Amino acid sequence: MKQIINPSQPIGIFDSGIGGLTVASAIKKILPNENIVYFGDTAHFPYGEKSEDSIKFYAIKIARFLLQKNCKAIVIACNTASAHAYNVVKEFAENKVEVINVIDPIVNYVSTKKEYKRIGVIGTKGTIKSNVYENKIKQISKNIEVVSLATPLLAPMIEEGFFNNNISKTIIQSYLSKPRLKKIDCLILACTHYPLIKKEITDIYKKQFEIIDSAEIVALQVKNILTQKKLLNKNNVGKHHFYISDYTPSFGNSASMFFGSKISLSEQNIWI
Ligand code: DGL
Repeated sequence: MKQIINPSQPIGIFDSGIGGLTVASAIKKILPNENIVYFGDTAHFPYGEKSEDSIKFYAIKIARFLLQKNCKAIVIACNTASAHAYNVVKEFAENKVEVINVIDPIVNYVSTKKEYKRIGVIGTKGTIKSNVYENKIKQISKNIEVVSLATPLLAPMIEEGFFNNNISKTIIQSYLSKPRLKKIDCLILACTHYPLIKKEITDIYKKQFEIIDSAEIVALQVKNILTQKKLLNKNNVGKHHFYISDYTPSFGNSASMFFGSKISLSEQNIWI
């Protein structure tokens, strides 16, 4: 039996930790009437180091939790989980709700930029090993060269609150100076944690080319899909609830940075 979905139901968003907050905050900005349920799987962070099977297992449990919370759409606000688990989450949701990943909107965006011939991608080991960006971009245009670099220290550094300081600057600089990233026409930040260091990256490249992150582009995609499906919440002040699988002080700090000091945050065991 097809479930009836209505606009007042929340949007479910998940990531391994704070990274998806960059997407959640962009969604809040362009869709302030929407209720949001966010799940940060801090117990299993970092996803970038985990096997594909583990990520699929975590993603399905989280999708089940978000569906139990009555979400009308699920946003996989994590590149690693989008690369490994988008298909299984979609299958699990059985077309009852929309499932949105963070990779396709970026691939569609760069495909509109005909002048981009050599595209740089940085992300977790899991995302880069999956080759998902290269495969999807090449499906659109075979002539585009995609050069990828795994930058595994960045997400843990950001998750711990290390950004905009000398330590983060040195680590970012050391990755970005790799010869592979020379002569690129744009750089895709293929990890939802990286918008938090976008300013530092921009300072290094000094506006030589576009630095693309998923937050706004994905938020627009969510808006378009909800509009098409007539599921936009209109007369409501958006309420936001955050769940994490393991308490970390840095999650609370980051969520407050994006959503204000009085956030509703609970620890939730969804693995039983
Ligand atoms: N934010 C996640 C992503 O976009 C990665 C962080 C992690 O390794 O858990 O891939």
